[in-house]
Amino acid sequence: MVSKIAMGLFTAGVLALGLSSAAMADAKASIEAREACMKANGAMMKVMVPVIKGQKPYDKAANDAAIAAAEAACAGWAGWWGEDTKPGGDLKTEAKAEIWTDPAGFEAAGGAYMKAVAAVKASADEASFKAAFPDLGKSCQGCHEKFRQADQ
Ligand code: HEC
Repeated sequence: MVSKIAMGLFTAGVLALGLSSAAMADAKASIEAREACMKANGAMMKVMVPVIKGQKPYDKAANDAAIAAAEAACAGWAGWWGEDTKPGGDLKTEAKAEIWTDPAGFEAAGGAYMKAVAAVKASADEASFKAAFPDLGKSCQGCHEKFRQADQ
C-alpha cells in the first residue's frame, strides 16, 4: 500500500517535471524566436541607415529583401509572449514586464511599426524612401523605450 502511494507520487513528480521542462522549452523557443525577429530588424536597419546617411546609394531591391527577411523572421510574433517568457524567470530576456501589464500599449507600438514598414515598402524612389524612413526608426525606439530593458 505504502509503496503504491510512493509510486503514485513518484509518477506524479515525473509528470510534473516533464510538463514544466516542456513548457520551459517552449518559452526558450519563443524568446529565441523574438530575438531572431529583432536581429532581422537590426539587419534591416544596417541596409537602410547607410542610405539615409548618404554613405550608400538608394537600392529598392536591397530594402525590399531586408523587409521580406524581417517579415519572415517575425511572422510568428503573436505567439511568442506567453506568461512563461516574462522577465525575472530563469530565462534571460530583454523584454520588460510592461509588455504584460500594458498589452494595449505594446500592441499599439507593434501597430506603429507595421504601418511604418508598410510605408517604407511602398516607397519606390529615394525621396519617398527618405520621407518614410524616420517613422520606422521612431517605431523601433518607441517600442524599445517602453518595452525593452534599457540597459542592454
Ligand atoms: C513592438 C515592440 C518592438 C518593436 C516595434 C521593435 N522592437 Fe526590437 N525588441 C523588442 C523587445 C521586446 C525586445 C527584447 C526581446 C527579448 O529579449 O525577449 C527587442 C530586442 C531587439 C534587439 C536585440 C535582439 C537580441 O539579439 O537580443 C534588436 C537588435 C532590436 N530589438 C532591434 C529592433 C529594430 C531595429 C526595430 C525597428 C526596425 C525594432 N527592434 C522594433 C520590441 C520591439
